Amino acid sequence: MKTVRIGIIGIGNIGSAHAAGIYRGDVPGLTLTALCDRDDNRAEELRRDFPDIPVFADAEEMMDAGLVDAVIISVPHYDHPPLAMLAFSKGLHVLTEKPAGVYCAKVREMVAAAKESGKVFAIMFNQRTNKLFAKARDIVQSGELGELKRSVWIITNWYRKQSYYDSGSWRATWSGEGGGVLMNQAPHNLDLWQWICGMPVELRADCGVATAHDIEVEDEATIFARYANGATGTFITTTGDYPGTNRLEITGTLGKLVIENKKMVWQKFSMSEREYCYSPDDVKMETETVEIEDEKYNGHHRVLANFADAILNGTPLVARGEEGLSELTLCNAAYLSAWTGKTVTLPMDDDLYYEELKKKIAGSRGTRENAKTAHTESGKYNDRWNTNW
Ligand SMILES: NC(=O)c1ccc[n+]([C@@H]2O[C@H](COP(=O)([O-])OP(=O)(O)OC[C@H]3O[C@@H](n4cnc5c(N)ncnc54)[C@H](O)[C@@H]3O)[C@@H](O)[C@H]2O)c1
Repeated sequence: MKTVRIGIIGIGNIGSAHAAGIYRGDVPGLTLTALCDRDDNRAEELRRDFPDIPVFADAEEMMDAGLVDAVIISVPHYDHPPLAMLAFSKGLHVLTEKPAGVYCAKVREMVAAAKESGKVFAIMFNQRTNKLFAKARDIVQSGELGELKRSVWIITNWYRKQSYYDSGSWRATWSGEGGGVLMNQAPHNLDLWQWICGMPVELRADCGVATAHDIEVEDEATIFARYANGATGTFITTTGDYPGTNRLEITGTLGKLVIENKKMVWQKFSMSEREYCYSPDDVKMETETVEIEDEKYNGHHRVLANFADAILNGTPLVARGEEGLSELTLCNAAYLSAWTGKTVTLPMDDDLYYEELKKKIAGSRGTRENAKTAHTESGKYNDRWNTNW
């Protein structure tokens, strides 16, 4: 196999951007050979925009047509696990959009199916390819920052207008989307948070439902987490603040990192702060400061090219599909804590979460009646999907 024949399921905002980029030849290792969208109007537009690419209304038909080696799943969240499992059962490799699914119990079934199939399973955590976050992970995971003391991420620049929520019938309902800002926008940051600092052992959260929009899910959340060594983590996000902030600060015994305004400022201490704290008063703490600037990047294409490379050459994935469970656990645990008013210990009880989610779904207003499906920037990546400063 010289290139991977790829089919895309769900050609909406992000699916159309993936399709256009691969079709143009911007992604080494991938050749676009099939498209699938169940919306008839959409299918018509696709035949116009991609005249030589077969368009299917049904994902299984596309998988059975013998045209693809791998699929990208870019449909609403609940359908990620069932479509991925269908693809694995047919011997296809899978790259799913984030989040891995809506609840961990289902995602575990998908992970088991992936393992059994032996196929490559990746997830679109495009912000992992941002050089500042990758560097932060190296510094924290290598021990250069010492022992973790505190992480604080204020990521409130996921601003969305009401028209965004009204642009898709599945958006911002428990039955259609399965959550709000923690389920749709912040998964990138929840993933990076645990990728850099590791998983906490417990958390509690407060979620503000419909604080700034006419929706039924949360558009604001604050998580307070504790790590195994006693360190704390705070994560604040919303789609309701304009212009919002993106600032990650991590403090360890040997240094401090701040990522904000397209830049990382890394302060390295000459000795452990713990040692300094108990040293005689004439002992001086020296600090060396390293600054690293961000670069312009297309994280989506990096992840797509890496997926092809993993299939063709066995290259390690930027993000393995099963890693989607970690950020989803943080998201599900935050909801459970907000609903029950209790601290949630991790690993959490996935079945209890699903029982509680079903109650939310039962009370959901379902499809948003006023929604007008609109792909305003069809075929283009929106800057706000990459790291937004
Ligand atoms: N990684 C990123 O930066 C990023 C950015 C935007 C969206 N996303 C994710 O991508 C996914 C899609 O989001 P979107 O904004 O593109 O949604 P969208 O509503 O714009 O598009 C979804 C498309 O899927 C089609 N569809 C739905 N179910 C289908 C099925 N079973 N078979 C075939 N087609 C089906 C719909 O007709 C629609 O055209 C979500 O998981 C979202 O969280 C990721």
